[in-house]
Amino acid sequence: MSIKYKFPKNFWWGAATSGPQTEGRFNKKHANVFDHWFDIEKNAFFNGVGPNVASNFYNSYKEDIKMMADIGLNSIRTSIQWTRLIKDFETAEVDTEAVAFYNQVIDEFLKNKIIPVMNLQHFDLPVELYDKYGGWESKHVLDLFVLFAEKCFALFGDRVKHWITFNEPMVIVEGQYLYKFHYPNIVDGKKAVQVLYNLNLASAKVVAAFKQSKCAKQGGEIGVVLNLTPSYPRSQAEDDIKAAAFVEDFFNKSFLDPVVKGEFTPSLVQTLRKDGVLWESTAEELAIIKNNTVDFLGVNYYQPRRAKSKGAVWDKTKSWMPDKYFDDYELPNRRMNPYRGWEIYPQAMYDIAINIRDNYNNIHWYISENGMGVEGEEKYRNADGLIEDVYRIDFYEEHLRYLYKAIQDGANCFGFHAWTAIDCWSWSNAYKNRYGYIAVDLITQIKTIKKSGYWIKNVAKENGF
Ligand code: NOJ
Repeated sequence: MSIKYKFPKNFWWGAATSGPQTEGRFNKKHANVFDHWFDIEKNAFFNGVGPNVASNFYNSYKEDIKMMADIGLNSIRTSIQWTRLIKDFETAEVDTEAVAFYNQVIDEFLKNKIIPVMNLQHFDLPVELYDKYGGWESKHVLDLFVLFAEKCFALFGDRVKHWITFNEPMVIVEGQYLYKFHYPNIVDGKKAVQVLYNLNLASAKVVAAFKQSKCAKQGGEIGVVLNLTPSYPRSQAEDDIKAAAFVEDFFNKSFLDPVVKGEFTPSLVQTLRKDGVLWESTAEELAIIKNNTVDFLGVNYYQPRRAKSKGAVWDKTKSWMPDKYFDDYELPNRRMNPYRGWEIYPQAMYDIAINIRDNYNNIHWYISENGMGVEGEEKYRNADGLIEDVYRIDFYEEHLRYLYKAIQDGANCFGFHAWTAIDCWSWSNAYKNRYGYIAVDLITQIKTIKKSGYWIKNVAKENGF
């Protein structure tokens, strides 16, 4: 078969996952916010399934990594759990069993010729640090996070050359402080804005610490993973354009601008100041943000956002919320993933890439997540035991064609990571929607490669399709 879309040399064909979603809580000495939430409220999770076992990576990492290699993946992002590695958060004293575990995982990746990309924070704030200090609301917690990061660089930086400070920091803001889908499910726009700032500061502080590490001096790189949701106005009417611009400012640029350019978006600052909810900052902190931009960027893209001007008048008795400035707009006849309720709009891949090319110094970046969540995939299993997830293959190919086009047009993209390699536990959705190239049976823990797994194997081998 001839290859129509050939990607650049050394392109990353891989997948992303995370510690809390795969490892299971085996041998873990502390609880993160999701562990805790499950302990106190099991029914907040689909079918009452929590993170205790997840996909059992703690026990089966060798077989799992071998399967990832079998389907041709050349790079994997996962995360180091703060609540596993660290015994004492204040001093960053480590748990030796956890150090041994992560050493083995990293070595196993390398043995299988898979580049390990290690993320330091994937929604797994230690619950103790929330209870004691208010979590990301507290500048002290930011410093404890830096101590943890420094430990990671020192312990694993000889072999891990690609680091990530945060996965989807905007989702922390939304989940914990706006829309109630991360413990402690607070609704407080002012706090949300402060946390948004604090997470930017935390990321920059970790970048600063990384620059001092041996790993950086030997050529290692650090980035951040942002979930970008390009926003499109309902119409060309001025109000709709304004609404979409605010969505862009708040949900995308509030991280993208500081991490790449070292500065917050002026129009966002202006709006928040006018509304009396601007974060508190110091000149010293702003200098840290300014001087510690990332080496590379990861972009998670699933769906766009569409906005229209606010029909309903904002209720002044309510606390400030970003929704003050827009209503979500559902494009008529939009294509939907019927299982996940998310719009499918592959063209956004191109728009994201060109935006980074033109407005973000053409920084080198990769797709760090893209994928299609599907419920009840067992029904697509054929007589030979193969799940025929052709919809997923189509989904990826459509997105990749737009990415390819963008690369032809000068986008500086070096890889494509799917979410995910092996079906894993997805927060309160638990195992409802499956995303993997490899299926996992929750009862037997037997893992089988889906049709898309064979597809990516071929794509990785040919460096295209
Ligand atoms: C983004 C997150 O990084 C990941 O944790 C989550 O499971 C996937 N999206 C799917 O929703």
